[in-house]
Amino acid sequence: MMISTLTSYAKSDLPEIIPEPAQIDLNGEGAFRLTRDALVSMCDSSLMFEASYLAEYTDRYLGIPLKTTVKNLDKPAVSLVNLDNGAVSGGYRLTVEHDSGVLIEGNDAAGVFYGIQTLIQLLPTRAGVLPLLPEVTICDFPRFPYRGMHLDVVRHFFPVEFIKRYIDYLAFHKLNYFHWHLTDDQGWRLEMECYPELTQRGSEREGEIFGLYPGEYRKLPYGGYYTREQVDEVVRYAAQRHITVMPEIDIPGHCMAVLAAFPSFSTTPDEPKKCALTWGIFNKFNNVLAPKPEVFEFLKNVFSELCDIFPGQYIHVGGDECAKKWWQESAETQKFMREHGLKDEKALQSYFIHYVQNVVEGKGKTLVGWDEVLQGGISDDCVIMNWRQPTIGRTALRTGHKTIVTCSQWSYFNIKESRLQPEIGAKGQTPLSLEKVYEFSIEPDSITGKERSLVLGAQACLWTEYIPTTWKAEQFVFPRMAAFAENVWSPENKKNWDSFARKVECQVERYELWGARYSDAFFRMNDISRYR
Ligand code: ACM
Repeated sequence: MMISTLTSYAKSDLPEIIPEPAQIDLNGEGAFRLTRDALVSMCDSSLMFEASYLAEYTDRYLGIPLKTTVKNLDKPAVSLVNLDNGAVSGGYRLTVEHDSGVLIEGNDAAGVFYGIQTLIQLLPTRAGVLPLLPEVTICDFPRFPYRGMHLDVVRHFFPVEFIKRYIDYLAFHKLNYFHWHLTDDQGWRLEMECYPELTQRGSEREGEIFGLYPGEYRKLPYGGYYTREQVDEVVRYAAQRHITVMPEIDIPGHCMAVLAAFPSFSTTPDEPKKCALTWGIFNKFNNVLAPKPEVFEFLKNVFSELCDIFPGQYIHVGGDECAKKWWQESAETQKFMREHGLKDEKALQSYFIHYVQNVVEGKGKTLVGWDEVLQGGISDDCVIMNWRQPTIGRTALRTGHKTIVTCSQWSYFNIKESRLQPEIGAKGQTPLSLEKVYEFSIEPDSITGKERSLVLGAQACLWTEYIPTTWKAEQFVFPRMAAFAENVWSPENKKNWDSFARKVECQVERYELWGARYSDAFFRMNDISRYR
């Protein structure tokens, strides 16, 4: 028995994988041992990144260097094969046999990459434990094509090194879209060739808030932005990890930083403008674009350049929380509305979104907007990001829109996880527990078959008003990102909260291995032995 614990796996020890794969079968009781300098082979050099990624992981986190090779005749420990078979993108089969090692066959390169992510979870969670892989066959594929995670880099700015780390976290969880919220009232964080003033005059605010809401205001300059080179680097880094970056430029509201650079773009051009110092929807400070020819010219140039910078299909226009009082109070805006037959301010909001949609579609891309873009009407081709009540998402589906579900009460990770965390987050929010994230039903039971096909997937968001450091960002996303990942990847009939709750213990060991901070609220609130 002593020997068998070193060379084999007990049949009952099903590997604990997050997100839960579609099918796991244990093939025997043997095990394959991954040794130093073992070979990782690939079917051709197009999988070079995937092979090196695995070798770098085992070396960096477990102290086990591996060698990579293209079609080597020697018996490899791990073989990577891209079947390129046109089946579901991201699907893969992973087989471990005690004598021949590991075979990962992906439907495409993304599938090979996800097979590697599953293999990583068969490896130990600490260096020094010898990697014994159970004899297993895992067949797996994602439930939804859009599995997103968002990050607001405006309220608080995060350096490129953290953006890359965040992208790695997404990859570990088999998520494939990074929604980068780059502009808002408090700053413009993307260098633009067409208007350098946006970062020259719109990326800094005069002060910063310390402590819990409402906090203590300190008059310290606060700012930052990403250069084009940095953005290109992030896009490339993400693409290697089969993640698409979706940029968001939020208009026509949430535009104080634009107005700080170009006060004439507002309905109150003679009043002084600066980036917002605090958070919220502004009825006190004008943060809304006015419908003027120079503003539409601006939108055309900015969104055209955005389409050129970001190679992905989706471009996010924001469109949320536009304070319409600024349009109501402006005689010039009301005249524009009359002249263009716009019956109310919702129709004007829709006019702005349509305008940007034409620019983006002219570049061969697809527009995505927060669910307020439904107000005043929007063409079917715009993808709706449903962040408010699920009933709004139902309306989007009923009216034929592709929809991404990110309802705030289940997927805003800036909400604290538990009442036991008085020291973090905004006051007075109903906590968003790990179980609530897990149990949220992405597709409501009542939707019809056709509507079901319009649900592209789901996203979790991290708004950073109260998250000024990378340390806090990690604490808010982990381990809830794991619950979200299982919800959006695994087949519905494989979802099981008790089983997930057991697996999460192992997942946090992995967070420790990666040097990532995580919240222990779940462990403090629950007697974990209940799940064992
Ligand atoms: C949002 O949370 N305002 C999209």
